[in-house]
Amino acid sequence: MNGPAGTPAPAEGAGGSAASGRVPDGTTSGTTATGATAPEAADWEPPQEWSAGGRLPRSDGGDRSRPEDRRPASLNITAAATVPELLDLPWDVPLEQWPERTLASLPRGISRHVVRFAHLAGAVVAVKETSDHIARHEFHVLRRLQRLDVPCVEPVAIVSNRRGTDGADLATALVTRHLKFSLPYRALFSQQLRPDTLTRLIDALALLLVRLHLVGFYWGDVSLSNTLFRRDAGSFAAYLVDAETGEIHPELSAGQREYDLEIARVNIAGELMDLMEGGLVDAIDPIDTSERIMDSYRRLWSELLDIESFRATDKWRVAERIRRLNDLGFDVEEYSITTSPEGTTFELQPKVVDAGHHTRRLLRLTGLDVQENQARRLLNDMDSFRAATCPGLDEDYAAHTWLQQVFEPIVRSIPRDLAGKLEPPEVVHEVLEHRWYMSEQQQRFVPLSEAVTSYLEDILRHRRDEANILLNPDTRTLAVLSTEDD
Ligand SMILES: Nc1ncnc2c1ncn2[C@@H]1O[C@H](COP(=O)(O)OP(=O)(O)O)[C@@H](O)[C@H]1O
Ligand SMILES: [Mg+2]
Repeated sequence: MNGPAGTPAPAEGAGGSAASGRVPDGTTSGTTATGATAPEAADWEPPQEWSAGGRLPRSDGGDRSRPEDRRPASLNITAAATVPELLDLPWDVPLEQWPERTLASLPRGISRHVVRFAHLAGAVVAVKETSDHIARHEFHVLRRLQRLDVPCVEPVAIVSNRRGTDGADLATALVTRHLKFSLPYRALFSQQLRPDTLTRLIDALALLLVRLHLVGFYWGDVSLSNTLFRRDAGSFAAYLVDAETGEIHPELSAGQREYDLEIARVNIAGELMDLMEGGLVDAIDPIDTSERIMDSYRRLWSELLDIESFRATDKWRVAERIRRLNDLGFDVEEYSITTSPEGTTFELQPKVVDAGHHTRRLLRLTGLDVQENQARRLLNDMDSFRAATCPGLDEDYAAHTWLQQVFEPIVRSIPRDLAGKLEPPEVVHEVLEHRWYMSEQQQRFVPLSEAVTSYLEDILRHRRDEANILLNPDTRTLAVLSTEDD
């Protein structure tokens, strides 16, 4: 569904110069010409780049029998970083016809455009064919969101001015890095799920929406399909994947936020009905369930930003509020306190809150860069490790010891053939849970090495491969994912 925000403002793209594509020696950061530029066909006026809505494929326009229409292409690549291997991809072939050896079989969500995954320099990228204007807009929005440190896919390049071997114009491609270990929501429903998985997915999306709104991003097309999910210590972390309708403002009004929320609710209700029709979830009330996004979002937003009044004698409430926000995963960068004229009551309002409280603490202590809930889980383990083994040691030193004696041995013990199952921090989280569970059951101390062996053989080995699900898809997975191409 398209958001009501309408076509994103061309100015946003900042692609005026970079958008050219018509200039062979271009102004882009990574422009490469694959051939000499021939004069334009006489019957074709180049668009005004600053307002171009994208050059649509001219499948029905132009007389291709004329030799001048078969001019060589001057491919144009605008890249976020130098990736020379981009040139090796078959840009002169429509994406739908890319050869198998170029493509990576990974689960994709439902999309309007043609989207494929391709191998690029030892990694995997997602390639989306779209209009020139949309590609540029989305590329720049994703770059800005990345700088604002919001979870989203990483833009790699825009490839424009593509021309097929028969001389036909091909759609511009937006290239983003494939988000490793991420899953489209439909893929999550192809395996046995705990009943509350759905609500945790919705909660993860609500948190993502709050984070986007905090930086002034109006999404315009919030949905489960436009989000990717990664496991995060038993919960999920949501990432924005489709920024096509998004706009970045200095700040959003309450009305804009409510509008986005309403789009989210309607889209989610539709997606849930779809899951039910496909027999992928048991009977739920799609409308009721979709409303969870509103509750979850509003609760979080008010916890983060509401004004709190208290008596002057209750100053502890300031520290208490900050502790609650830390627990939710946010740091308070700035807050205001105002006193009543008589000085008997205070009003406290967090002004700038920043997600990633636990992630930052773990990064500072150990250099590990993991998701928020994983960080929270690992920090808890580190704190109990310190209390049990080296209570006198300072925090940095204890963290280093924990890394060497707990985290690293677990990660090293994952056999190569199981490495694609789950991200390493998620494996560590699961091993720690497993150890706790074993000790509870057997009422004894379970050494770490024993817990690791038992976990690898009894649990991890039987999980499906999340890095690469479709290498060995089961029929149910195939059934779920094939709907994307309908
Ligand atoms: N960088 C990426 N990493 C992982 N999956 C991706 C990536 N980009 C796109 N996808 C998959 O492709 C699907 C469609 O992408 P999207 O940008 O939503 O296309 P559309 O604009 O046509 O809706 C997504 O739901 C997601 O599953
Ligand atoms: Mg989409």
